[in-house]
Amino acid sequence: MVRAFDSNYLNGGQKLAIKYFSVAVILFFAQLLFGLLAGLQYLHPDFLHGILDFNVNRMVHINAMIVWMLYGFIGSVYWFLEEESGHEVVGLKLGNLGFWLLTAAVTVVVLVYLLVQTGPGNDFTRWFINEGREYIEAPRWADIGIVIVMLIFFYNVAMTFARGKWSGIAGVLTLDLIALAGLYLAGMFYVTNISIDQYWWWWVVHLWVEATWEVLVGCMVAWSLIHILGARRKIVETWLYIEVAMMFGSGILGLGHHYFWAGQPEYWLAIGGFFSALEPIPLVAMVVHSIYDAGVHHLRNRNHPALAWIIAHTFGNFLGAGVWGFMHTLPQVNLYTHGTQWTSSHGHLAFFGAYATINIAFFYLAVQRWRGDVWMGANLVGGWRWKWALTLLSVGVMGMTIALLIAGYEQSFIERAQGGSTWSAYFAAQTHPWFVESMAWRMLFGWVTVAGFVLLVWDLLTVGKYETRPVEALAEEPALTSA
Ligand code: HEM
Ligand code: HEM
Ligand SMILES: [Fe+2]
Repeated sequence: MVRAFDSNYLNGGQKLAIKYFSVAVILFFAQLLFGLLAGLQYLHPDFLHGILDFNVNRMVHINAMIVWMLYGFIGSVYWFLEEESGHEVVGLKLGNLGFWLLTAAVTVVVLVYLLVQTGPGNDFTRWFINEGREYIEAPRWADIGIVIVMLIFFYNVAMTFARGKWSGIAGVLTLDLIALAGLYLAGMFYVTNISIDQYWWWWVVHLWVEATWEVLVGCMVAWSLIHILGARRKIVETWLYIEVAMMFGSGILGLGHHYFWAGQPEYWLAIGGFFSALEPIPLVAMVVHSIYDAGVHHLRNRNHPALAWIIAHTFGNFLGAGVWGFMHTLPQVNLYTHGTQWTSSHGHLAFFGAYATINIAFFYLAVQRWRGDVWMGANLVGGWRWKWALTLLSVGVMGMTIALLIAGYEQSFIERAQGGSTWSAYFAAQTHPWFVESMAWRMLFGWVTVAGFVLLVWDLLTVGKYETRPVEALAEEPALTSA
């Protein structure tokens, strides 16, 4: 028997979520493709020169990443909105309209990035080609569109909970979305002073990934642990509150670690160093939390691939953001590492570990339901595929991370510590064998990452297709024993 994807198994929010997830996967592919091109240009600087220059490939690489992750987040919230609120999505039609508007805007923006690429340094370029702010380079017209779509999304979420019922997760999520959407506005100011411009731009980038996105994925993890392990809501929500308090407590002023050498007042050295050094603490708590919950349930769960990706998420978040972030966050260290491949090493592991992983977990939750709550437990037919996809993607990204870290060490020593950041020291570092060989290793592991992605897509399209068993029923959570 073949189990087809059948939308009758899905509620309205989930149907919309599938659309968001599909575009997310396509943009994930675009991210990898342009990452490969940019990586190849490190090895062969003439490759595509004048056609698709490094700056264009890099821009598409990281913008596609931000956008696919946002698609994944929006899809995930729509995924659980009806179940969590006990009410059908309010404004679903508007939500669908928002999806198509956003997708049309993203398509046009990417085409302009690729076909027009650059423009004169004036308002026209800012409005129609590229705003020039790393990660959020969309031109102003698209910014406005994005804000409208986010408002629709927020309205739908808040109204659905208001009409249905609130929960701890619902409250945290709704407040977090206000902050997340509001921060985007900080990336839209236009000032001619580059220090002031960067001051506000970091509000978006840092306060997204180290505060509001972390809380959002905290909500996603909380909901999914209840859903796939049968974890007790009271415990999960208590953990969530603690994590949110620690996250905001350290992450907001941790912003200062981007103000060290960027023309901001000197007090940021102390504030940024101190608070950002505390940022790993909630990430440790998240690892403990997921392992604790999985352990209490003896790993019995409804969806093995999703749980594996959630655990990969908590470790990836801790390693990529917590450990790799901590390594270069004290000003005494950052003086040498700032803007080297060390930064790129951290960027890759953090974004993958914290955010790619949790979105992939939700893709697995979605395909399971879409095939009619199919079995995704032990001895899953074709189960090697998800395991290999997880392994190849993790080994690929970790391999790139280590290669970049070696290059970053080399740059910090030769260019900064020994050479004193002179122009010639810069080139001495760039041509050193440790740097050049690291770039080749990064490429090799980049291909491994791509192989993992191909397997992942294949698996998402086929997992559960030939399963006859229904999803595993969960046992009641064992009562807590007092000591
Ligand atoms: C999931 C969370 C995180 C993500 C996705 C992330 C991502 C990034 C990225 C992409 C950059 C480079 C930005 C650029 O292009 O200039 C960066 C820079 C940085 N991150 Fe993170 N990060 C995270 C968490 C953390 C944490 C928890 C810490 C500290 C404990 C940290 C410390 C830093 C520092 C100090 C820099 C500046 C590097 C430099 O001076 O060049 N990050 N981060
Ligand atoms: C096919 C595999 C990949 C390759 C070959 C690749 C290559 C690259 C290259 C060449 C850059 C520009 C670095 C520079 O400016 O010096 C870059 C930047 C970046 N990539 Fe990738 N990448 C890959 C996959 C990924 C994945 C899976 C993620 C995260 C999910 C990611 C996140 C980033 C980030 C955040 C930056 C900006 C780093 C910074 O500003 O320091 N990349 N990548
Ligand atoms: Fe930061």
